[in-house]
Amino acid sequence: MARVALVTGGSRGIGEAISKALKGAGYNVAATYHGNDEAAAKFKAATGIAVYKWDVAKFDDCKAGIARVEAELGPVDVLVNNAGITRDATLHRMTPEQWHAVIETNLTSLFNMSRNVIEGMRNRSFGRIVNISSINGQKGQIGQANYSAAKAGVIGFTKALAQENANKGITVNAIAPGYIATEMVRAVPEPVLQKIIATIPVGRLGEADEVARCVTFLAADDAGFITGSTLTINGAQYIAG
Ligand code: CAA
Repeated sequence: MARVALVTGGSRGIGEAISKALKGAGYNVAATYHGNDEAAAKFKAATGIAVYKWDVAKFDDCKAGIARVEAELGPVDVLVNNAGITRDATLHRMTPEQWHAVIETNLTSLFNMSRNVIEGMRNRSFGRIVNISSINGQKGQIGQANYSAAKAGVIGFTKALAQENANKGITVNAIAPGYIATEMVRAVPEPVLQKIIATIPVGRLGEADEVARCVTFLAADDAGFITGSTLTINGAQYIAG
């Protein structure tokens, strides 16, 4: 039986590439989305991957959504916590709404999702959790106190959960992408984006597929000794110690 992989924010951007790569590697994939019905329908028609709509920032929605995925596809073996948003503003202009939206969607979602699969993974003595962090959680970023805090939190969460579940066949790892050519990055004002690209030694934005192939690597059955790590994919823009 194919393993079941659940990818949050799995119908667009980096998540879309991850969903497709996991399907290509033989997983039975479920992709969640929240806002964009049209993009999700298009994605489903093009890929045949099942899509589920819920808000990862809400615990009860995650609980009910995961129950539905498990009833339809089977127990979740691989969870990819990818869903994320930006609400960029310098702190002196940031609203409480911008702060909370990013913390809840990008960090609290990891609790909401992982909490609802971890007991099953522990009972079955197998699991793979891959959390998408960011270069900006490693180095901080102008205009992203909210996002940088959430993405740094993702790395701490990963390390704790890896240790808690290391003796249960479950690995928990983070990936810290740099600037990848997705809608999220293209929303950065053009002059600022050009300034950012100039600081990437490889000389270009990354591709979503380059992140996706690292997810399939970490999700594999034979990746059992890699846990608690953060895999950086940023074209040498920032080399974390
Ligand atoms: N890198 C380098 N310089 C930056 C910068 C960045 N990421 N963001 C802003 N700056 C610079 C601007 O170029 C500008 O410099 P100059 O005065 O020399 O022109 C200065 O900071 C002030 O910027 P703005 O004039 O744009 O000020 P603002 O108040 O109108 O807007 C801002 C501030 C909201 C931070 C806006 O600049 C912005 O959106 N910046 C991009 C922030 C960013 O990098 N977001 C990442 C989004 S992609 C992502 O999050 C995915 C991921 O994981 C990497």
